[in-house]
Amino acid sequence: MPAAAAARPFRMGPARSPRSPAWWSPGPSAGILWRMPRFPGAVPSRLPNVGTTIFTVMSRLAAETGAINLSQGFPEFSAPPLLYDLVAKHMRAGSNQYAPMAGTVALREAIARKVEALYGTRYDPEHEITVTAGGTQAIFTAITALVRPGDEVILFEPAYDSYAPSVVLAGATAVRARLAFPAYRPDWDEVRRLVSPRTRLIVTNTPHNPSGTIWSEADLGRLEALVEGTEIVVLSDEVYEHMVFDGRRHESCARRPALAARSVVVSSFGKTYHVTGWKVGYVLAPRELTLEFRRVHQFVVFTVNTPVQLALAEYLSDASLHLGLAAFYERKRDLFRAGLAQTRLSLLPCEGTYFQLASYAGLTEERDDVLAERLTREGGVASIPVSAFYAQPPHDPVLRFCFAKNDDTLARACERLARARW
Ligand SMILES: Cc1ncc(COP(=O)(O)O)c(C=O)c1O
Repeated sequence: MPAAAAARPFRMGPARSPRSPAWWSPGPSAGILWRMPRFPGAVPSRLPNVGTTIFTVMSRLAAETGAINLSQGFPEFSAPPLLYDLVAKHMRAGSNQYAPMAGTVALREAIARKVEALYGTRYDPEHEITVTAGGTQAIFTAITALVRPGDEVILFEPAYDSYAPSVVLAGATAVRARLAFPAYRPDWDEVRRLVSPRTRLIVTNTPHNPSGTIWSEADLGRLEALVEGTEIVVLSDEVYEHMVFDGRRHESCARRPALAARSVVVSSFGKTYHVTGWKVGYVLAPRELTLEFRRVHQFVVFTVNTPVQLALAEYLSDASLHLGLAAFYERKRDLFRAGLAQTRLSLLPCEGTYFQLASYAGLTEERDDVLAERLTREGGVASIPVSAFYAQPPHDPVLRFCFAKNDDTLARACERLARARW
């Protein structure tokens, strides 16, 4: 159809209906409604293989079917009221205009103090810390800033879904190292084989979504040895840094001088403070990498929500809030695992994050995406098929459940799963 025909106006019913309120009066175009015309050309996609993410699909299905939603990774509960009061305080005090591009000084200084206390490394707030609109923007910006067309980026699969599209948009190639079911441990000999002269970046993620595994000091040692003498940058996704269980410690790249010198470390306040919808996070990186990061950051978001930054700066001064998170989620993990033990699913270890993997090997031959959909519709519990985290899914018999939910929600989900038909 020619574009002009598509754009022709059409008339719809009387401009004023009998139910129009008394104050209603027709505007200049009253009585003529335009159907949105179609774009007249082709739109070649930069991401032709990407559709709606599985997280949106499963959350929508859960809402449609009334299933308990353990699919998408977000808490069901609120932050302490103090955090909201602090945001309101700063809004009312008039802090509602653009913050400095790199983030408010107060928040960057608070982050520097937190990181120094945790990992023993002093990052300079002026040149080495940048506040971002959440972890995803930090990852996208880092890849866009540091990766050139033709470069290779090593990812560990299963991988958080934003890494590969960011690499493709940078004109680079994603090279995949495998974290194999059921242990999901890195095979460092394989990673070594994947490194080439074109490797620009290695993306790491500990604690790991979706497997709930954490990397050990020895893993970071292997990574450090692997990149020594190269110009490879490490993009270290540590958004679950405060959710590490059983008395173990989080192995941050910020802990090790040789890795910190070549790492862009990403964290997210959304995960730490139960406010995923606020989309505020930060990046730690040596000044040379920060300079390039900020060159792009200033044109991607320029700057991040001012009153929230100021509130977070104050909130961060109470270290018990982030230090207590591991115990908070460890209790939920234990509760959820005890409930799942009453089902026919087999549990994989969960060392960190708020995700629990469960294997259904031997229960059904269904593919994980097929089973996840059926369990949502029939069983009333939504999960994520782990195949969603791969370019070429192996369809291992495993589903991911998010346990950042109220205790009674977790209990009800376990009851439903115990009754599920396999
Ligand atoms: C591994 C991983 N990285 C990054 C993010 C994104 O964090 P944010 O919500 O702060 O953008 C998520 C969120 O689910 C995640 O699981």
